[in-house]
Amino acid sequence: MKHNLVLSGLEKRYGDFVALHETNLDIKAGEFVTLLGPSGSGKTTILMSIAGFVAPSSGRILLDGQDVTGLPPERRNFGVVFQGYALFPHLTVHDNVGFPLRARGIRGDQARPKIEAALDMAQLGAFAKRFPRQLSGGQQQRVALARSLVFGPELLLLDEPLSALDRSLRKDFQSEFKAIHRKVGTTFIYVTHDQEEALTMSDRIVILDKGRILQSAPPSELYERPATEFVAGFLGKSNFLRGRITRRADGLAELDAVDLASWASVGRQTMLGAGDHAVAALRPEKIRLHRTEPSGDACSARGRVTELTYLGASVEVTLAVGETRLTATIGAGAIALAEGDEIVASWAPDAAILVEPKQAAA
Ligand SMILES: Nc1ncnc2c1ncn2[C@@H]1O[C@H](COP(=O)(O)OP(=O)(O)OP(=O)(O)O)[C@@H](O)[C@H]1O
Ligand SMILES: [Mg+2]
Repeated sequence: MKHNLVLSGLEKRYGDFVALHETNLDIKAGEFVTLLGPSGSGKTTILMSIAGFVAPSSGRILLDGQDVTGLPPERRNFGVVFQGYALFPHLTVHDNVGFPLRARGIRGDQARPKIEAALDMAQLGAFAKRFPRQLSGGQQQRVALARSLVFGPELLLLDEPLSALDRSLRKDFQSEFKAIHRKVGTTFIYVTHDQEEALTMSDRIVILDKGRILQSAPPSELYERPATEFVAGFLGKSNFLRGRITRRADGLAELDAVDLASWASVGRQTMLGAGDHAVAALRPEKIRLHRTEPSGDACSARGRVTELTYLGASVEVTLAVGETRLTATIGAGAIALAEGDEIVASWAPDAAILVEPKQAAA
């Protein structure tokens, strides 16, 4: 069975306020898609519309080509795990997980193997007889997950399910979610504003801002080839080089940025040419640091170290290049540095990438 979900021109307005602008999104069967964006960007609005708890102002939701826009939540057969979507305190773990089956008239010998499989999958076998108050936050979250998957939903909708957990537990869960997703093969639509969570788990990340999709791509593509300044800044860190294009050659553009002359990949900004203003994103880890000017055709800039931040495996180095700040991330111990050192930064001609500037996207 293929369950392909399509959002077609989906829009949500509250009075004059547009929470979600006309949105189109195609989600493949079995895909792990993450909606990522700052607070208020419309992530929950999309998820709640898919679940059937929010009625869209216009547009359609299609499942396998069938219009489900007007169906009540209980007729959509989607699993949901929302933050604070509480367990029943008076039911054991076993009965909590079995609840959706009972609600569907599946009981006794028919229900038992399904409940056991769901408990196994979430590694809850040993806790079946306990009540929610006898479980840790992480264990409760696992019960919620088992409960949402027990009836074999076509689609699982998860809204920040890990936000209440501490960092190390969240990390464990990220790999667990991935493993469970692989095992059950259900489509997962996952909402978070944690970029690391999105990068590690998803087949595809959809970046939202102010009720619009800015870019939708696999994590590596989104990170390596961000389309806009917002995406480059929101997903990971980035330096932004701003200036006028002096010439174009072979998919590259030469940028006369203040204090920094650089080549950059043209990326999606293919319509820009000599004389146009442009912004290029340059990831800190693409920058190398040297005592003396490197040979070869790399781009380079001379600067002074203003700040060193130790991050464990790496060091973040801030350089003052004229009036411009440039941040580089280098391996700890790669080069001994002190604040005030004069140093040369270099990067490959295609390391920076032209992006759509923030104001143009607004
Ligand atoms: N019932 C409502 N009435 C009016 N405005 C609403 C309503 N529900 C949501 N909004 C607004 O719609 C916008 C999008 O909200 P949404 O809950 O989708 O954001 P979000 O991306 O999930 O944010 P967060 O990360 O904080 O959960 C917000 O500006 C919010 O204030
Ligand atoms: Mg939300």
